Amino acid sequence: MAVRVLFVCLGNICRSPMAEAVFKHLVDQAGLNDQIEIDSAGTGGWHVGERAHSGTRNVLRQNGIIYEGSARRVNERDFTHFDYILAMDSDNLDDLRGMMPGSSTAVIQRFLEFAPELNTRDVPDPYYEGNFEEVYRLVSAAAAGLLAHIRQEKGV
Ligand code: 4NP
Repeated sequence: MAVRVLFVCLGNICRSPMAEAVFKHLVDQAGLNDQIEIDSAGTGGWHVGERAHSGTRNVLRQNGIIYEGSARRVNERDFTHFDYILAMDSDNLDDLRGMMPGSSTAVIQRFLEFAPELNTRDVPDPYYEGNFEEVYRLVSAAAAGLLAHIRQEKGV
């Protein structure tokens, strides 16, 4: 696998599964699914083993994307296995930096850095507010930017 990407949020049931599914869909459409490995995880462990939130699954389904994954927590191996670890917000980024082993080789940054045209760098948490359409809009913009970046940077 040429490039490995991990999306990270707090619970791994709302935002990062949405980012994983949208990016996977884009990569499939580009015919690059054998070149880019894609996964998601949470900094917290409360929802480990659960399916994605119904709000995430519904907005994905409305856009023709089926998501079957279940939640897991970030672990130490992720920091050497993945090339990019992309945080949904600043808290996730701070938490990742706190968990990061000295051996980490991953580029760790906020996902929305790949959508500089947006006026925000944080994907808002829809768990309480419920704005899953807004999350979809933001992650779709950043997914396109990320794929363009990887194609250029890694030559895939
Ligand atoms: P996520 O949303 O980080 O986008 O998956 C959340 C899911 C669960 C909780 C908070 C945020 N929680 O507090 O359980």
